[in-house]
Amino acid sequence: MKYKTVSWETDKIRLIDQTKLPRELAYLDCSNIEELWHAIKHLIVRGAPALGVVAGWGVYLGLRESKAKTFEEFFRELESTAAYLASSRPTAVNLFWGIERMKKVALDNKGRSVEEIKRRLFEEAKTIQKEDENLCMAIGEAGEELIKTGDNILTHCNAGFLATAGIGTALGVLYTAHERGKRFHVYADETRPLLQGARLSTWELSSSGIKVTLICDNMAGFLMKQGKVDKVIVGADRIARNGDAANKIGTYSVACLANHHKIPFYVAAPYSTFDLSIPDGSHIPIEERDPREVTEGLGRRIAPEGVEVYNPAFDVTPHSLITAFVTERGIIKPPYEKTIKRSS
Ligand code: MRU
Repeated sequence: MKYKTVSWETDKIRLIDQTKLPRELAYLDCSNIEELWHAIKHLIVRGAPALGVVAGWGVYLGLRESKAKTFEEFFRELESTAAYLASSRPTAVNLFWGIERMKKVALDNKGRSVEEIKRRLFEEAKTIQKEDENLCMAIGEAGEELIKTGDNILTHCNAGFLATAGIGTALGVLYTAHERGKRFHVYADETRPLLQGARLSTWELSSSGIKVTLICDNMAGFLMKQGKVDKVIVGADRIARNGDAANKIGTYSVACLANHHKIPFYVAAPYSTFDLSIPDGSHIPIEERDPREVTEGLGRRIAPEGVEVYNPAFDVTPHSLITAFVTERGIIKPPYEKTIKRSS
């Protein structure tokens, strides 16, 4: 992979600043937990699996200078760092999953010195990052059989290397297929309001040699009607036990359109994105973001001052509209109530 979305550099977390793409490939270093919180909140780093990885590094970052003398004192600090990090964004379960993994390492090493626990937290964050790389490869391996030469594939938002520590999930499937010699074409939805499709997916795909055409979100239906879309593949931020899947706002509309036009709709995600503690999608917290993301665009105000705005950042696609999930454990097909549990 040419670019590292997230990395640990000596004493800080280095992130590709995704708010600057595609104009500029710039990096942002976070040396403390406040800087990281800000980077997550403002989508400098984004995408569910990448949030899982920064959760690991974030917990370490928040604690590495701890002067705690006892485990109890250290664990209290860990809990407050974790709660602070968790308050950045609510929907992607990977953030909470990463935090919980770090907490468990501390608890499992309760009898050790604070310095030793810190060392183990560092190792765990490194492991989460490495695992994410491998998970993406495995998702790519599992899903590439779905892609055929000549396909026209629609994707929404960005589920590529910018959203993970590896090659990506939905786009990881495409990169793997491309590497195997398959030649196809991708339509990228622009993904209003923050344009992850227009800014990030088109940049990623074209810089990886994959043919991509940018469309506005409201064009997908027309393209499908014209027979221009063979399949849809997207990522996910949280998947409930029954297969209902939260992803970037607009995904549900694409899934309805795909269903109407009898086009396969695939969701690619690692198992860390499955939240088996919730029975269905109605339990997924949906982030609401700053109205200015909607009222401002192209660097200027595009709506009248004071207009009411509703800006949910995610929606939930019901499992009945999902043809299959592509995971590191293989392709999972309905009935999801049984198959998701069986694979976990
Ligand atoms: O708000 P974002 O950009 O973090 O939302 C990301 C998405 O919805 C992605 O499509 C999803 O996280 C999958 S990332 C592999």
